[in-house]
Amino acid sequence: MSKLWGGRFTKETNKLVEEFTASISFDQKLAKEDITGSLSHVKMLGECGIIPIEDADKIKNGLLEIKKMVDANEVVFAVEDEDIHMNIEKLLIEKIGPVGGKLHTGRSRNDQVATDMHLYLRTKTTELIVLIENVQQALVEQAKKNVETLIPGYTHLQRAQPVSFAHHLMAYFWMFERDKERLTDSLKRVNWLPLGAGALAGTTFPINRERVADLLGFETIYPNSMDAVSDRDFILEFLAAASIIMTHISRFSEELVLWSSQEFQFVELDDSFCTGSSIMPQKKNPDVPELLRGKTGRVYGNLIGLLTVLKGLPLAYNKDLQEDKEGMFDTVETLEGSLKLLAPMTETMTVKKDVMRKAINNDFSNATDIADYLVRKGLPFREAHEIIGKIVLHAIQMGKFLLDLSLEEYKDFSPLFTEDIYEVLSPEHVVAVRNSFGGTSPEQVIEQIKLAEAKLQR
Ligand code: ARG
Repeated sequence: MSKLWGGRFTKETNKLVEEFTASISFDQKLAKEDITGSLSHVKMLGECGIIPIEDADKIKNGLLEIKKMVDANEVVFAVEDEDIHMNIEKLLIEKIGPVGGKLHTGRSRNDQVATDMHLYLRTKTTELIVLIENVQQALVEQAKKNVETLIPGYTHLQRAQPVSFAHHLMAYFWMFERDKERLTDSLKRVNWLPLGAGALAGTTFPINRERVADLLGFETIYPNSMDAVSDRDFILEFLAAASIIMTHISRFSEELVLWSSQEFQFVELDDSFCTGSSIMPQKKNPDVPELLRGKTGRVYGNLIGLLTVLKGLPLAYNKDLQEDKEGMFDTVETLEGSLKLLAPMTETMTVKKDVMRKAINNDFSNATDIADYLVRKGLPFREAHEIIGKIVLHAIQMGKFLLDLSLEEYKDFSPLFTEDIYEVLSPEHVVAVRNSFGGTSPEQVIEQIKLAEAKLQR
């Protein structure tokens, strides 16, 4: 079988070169997008009188038949035909004869492959936004059940102030909300059409790029043909957005691993999301969040990989650009798998309210509130801070917590203390009075969940 570009050559391609340069093993994932792009291109060629309408129709029917074969997994792709574009063109010519050779009029694989990638990312980005929403939905469900559940809030991984567990979960909701915004914004640029740029300089045929853009649902056309075939910013943006999503998934996963440890025991992951040990019979391992945390690395790697490919690349198309694909596919698949697991794992985890509550009873996370108490009685905050520091030290030395100290002990530190100090110190009170907008009081958290649900309904 001869090459589609064989005319200028006097020798067969070296087998190793053929294998090394071929992309068909991975870019066959673009088969549908390639056919979709070709269908619009050939329709435009017919409409513009660049090829006869009858020929355009024949090509269209041939492509539709190949599409059916692709859908039915009946096509065997050939390494000798290098990539998805030439595999499909060759199939077309085999099917409908030499007229199939008219498809590539006014087009190059360079604008073709870029168009395929735009189409692919448009579909995948839209699907991923839905998967992120499912995770957000799971977070909201858990949050609604835990508005009144108190958990230690940490800074420096040291107990800081108690918070509503719902508040903690909802923090992730908003991270994912920004992730959706980033993806949605990136679609603006995914919706630039490269097709019609030709190899790099445009084409001599009177093509109609607006028509192709309309047919394929693109919002804009690249105004510069050299940029159109060289640009991979839209993939970089996707990989960057994906890296940030994985960062969020990884931080949440780390908390789940910590919380489900013997030391914390704040949550228990459902049995169906954990695995055992081949040697230690007692083990129930949080493999899923661990692996989510771990997979973050490959997604970052894919971003750095493509940045590196693009850095220093002269205009316009270079074969290096073929390296844009595997990292992108891998990122899409990693994200899909991760988000699909995160939603049900979040929804099915058991929240151990008693353990969380017990943790709060045995710490000093209400210390800020006694300081605020003295401030309300007229003491400057700095002085109050100093006094409470001394009280905490005294309590530690006595092996007590703040609620265990007697009023006499308090009065030793300041005459401003009265009986009402004990109400101020209760964790429920500590949380309830943090009622500023975006704070952790049940009232604010309920408002926040309402805001979140409104986002999901859109
Ligand atoms: N397989 C190629 C890629 O993925 C398609 C474009 C090839 N163009 C070329 N002039 N060799 O980048």
